[in-house]
Amino acid sequence: MRSIWAQTCEIPPRAPLPGDLETEIAVVGAGMAGVLISAALQEAGHQVVILEAERIGSGQTGGTTAKITSQHGLCYAALVRSMSLPAAKLYAQSNEAAIQGYRRIILERGIDCGLETCSSYVCGAPGTDPEPLMEEARAAAALGLPAAFTADVPLPFPTAGAVRFKAQAQFHPLQFLKAMSDELTVFEHTRVQAVEDHALFTGHGTVRAERIVFACHFPFVDLPGMYFARMHQERSYVLALAHAPRLEGMFLGSGAGHWSLRSYRDLLLLGGEGHRTGENGDGGRYDRLRERAAAWFPGSREVAHWSAQDCMPPDGVPYIGRYASSRPDWFVATGFQKWGMTASMVAAMVLRELVCGRDHPAASLYSPSRWEAAALPGIAAEGWHAVKGLAKRSLQIPTEAAAHIPPDHGAVVSLHGEKVGVYRDEEGALHPVEIRCPHLGCQLEWDPDTRTWDCPCHGSRFDRFGHLLSGPALEDIVHEDA
Ligand SMILES: Cc1cc2nc3c(=O)[nH]c(=O)nc-3n(C[C@H](O)[C@H](O)[C@H](O)COP(=O)(O)OP(=O)(O)OC[C@H]3O[C@@H](n4cnc5c(N)ncnc54)[C@H](O)[C@@H]3O)c2cc1C
Ligand code: FES
Repeated sequence: MRSIWAQTCEIPPRAPLPGDLETEIAVVGAGMAGVLISAALQEAGHQVVILEAERIGSGQTGGTTAKITSQHGLCYAALVRSMSLPAAKLYAQSNEAAIQGYRRIILERGIDCGLETCSSYVCGAPGTDPEPLMEEARAAAALGLPAAFTADVPLPFPTAGAVRFKAQAQFHPLQFLKAMSDELTVFEHTRVQAVEDHALFTGHGTVRAERIVFACHFPFVDLPGMYFARMHQERSYVLALAHAPRLEGMFLGSGAGHWSLRSYRDLLLLGGEGHRTGENGDGGRYDRLRERAAAWFPGSREVAHWSAQDCMPPDGVPYIGRYASSRPDWFVATGFQKWGMTASMVAAMVLRELVCGRDHPAASLYSPSRWEAAALPGIAAEGWHAVKGLAKRSLQIPTEAAAHIPPDHGAVVSLHGEKVGVYRDEEGALHPVEIRCPHLGCQLEWDPDTRTWDCPCHGSRFDRFGHLLSGPALEDIVHEDA
């Protein structure tokens, strides 16, 4: 099902790349990051073209909850501990500047995207110790953020109090993207299949660019960069509820059972049930959200549900900057850890300077080339997870007859002596897919909630018939016998 954003905003279609082309800057991806970065560079006087595999805003940006906040969970006490006070301050200041960046652009351009100023809260579960919330409030306030602990949380159910950030914001992300992309050159349905030096190869022609920005969510060029070894993807789920109370503020539950709430007009968005992409074999995520909705907002009615995913870096800081030291003309913005509204704006602010050969105060914090001690344990864990996914490929999965797959479900089975993924459609027809991920070969898993084949290693996803939904993989997995 499409998000309420996609249901309420039509962005006019653009033609694919018409053939070979030369430009100063090529940006890969027209999500929030690609559009904001391109707009900033174009405003600075550069010639920019965007190459988009699908449609503007059709990626994860279309599935966001669109809170614009510097309150990224309980991140500040942890950042001070794991990095340093100055690094945490840069993180705080750059994300607050991002909120102001949205306000300035929306005001200057008169963009009608439902921007509302409100407070953001991270809440403790009832009965839990509020001290971690108080510690976070102290850490954030010491960094200059508008933060305080409050026991007075405007929710219709009990909490253990919350950290409140004042003067944050929420909006309609696609209405904003529609206005921002209006004056940009975007080629849709133009997937970049390979990049070499200054050439981007697509099925519609080759683009030669002096500088290239990868704003494609998960960077798909593995070498150099090795982003696959430095982050994984996590998926979460959203319900849009009618006949629920309007909330004054944006809310997040801390600790286990993490949830998210915000209002949009007369609807309430309830999110949560996050997990590593490719690890949802048992499903039931939407059902658990529905149970929560019934308990907290009795009488509410679901009008839409959807899911999306984001890239999670191991040290809690996105990668924004040079793609790799061996490619001085390539840049990247990724690893937004479910806070990509402000992170995309930070990326636009930082890359506007770096792409022009200037420095930015936050460039070293976000630099993708950081390999600090804080990041190493996480990076090692990513490597272990990928090895686990690869090893699974050679394990003998008990043979399951395709006959036992219920309609509209998939499973890994042995078919004609070969291990394949099989989806049974509602009419009973079987659709086999290659079960090895075309990215680096991990075994794909069937996700019963989204009816997709998902990769547990780096989060590539394919629809039930094997067509690529999102990378880093670049190819379909449609089986030759399909
Ligand atoms: C459930 C959920 C809720 C969230 N809520 C919030 C929130 O409230 N606030 C917040 O700040 N953040 C939130 N986030 C995070 C935020 O939505 C994302 O970080 C952000 O949308 C990512 O934007 P992007 O431009 O990097 O990626 P995308 O929007 O995915 O854009 C990337 C684009 O690149 C294109 N592309 C990919 N590969 C290629 C290729 N090879 N060639 C050409 N094009 C390509 C894709 O088609 C896509 O359109 C949430 C995330 C989730 C999962
Ligand atoms: S996404 Fe990397 S192996 Fe599947």
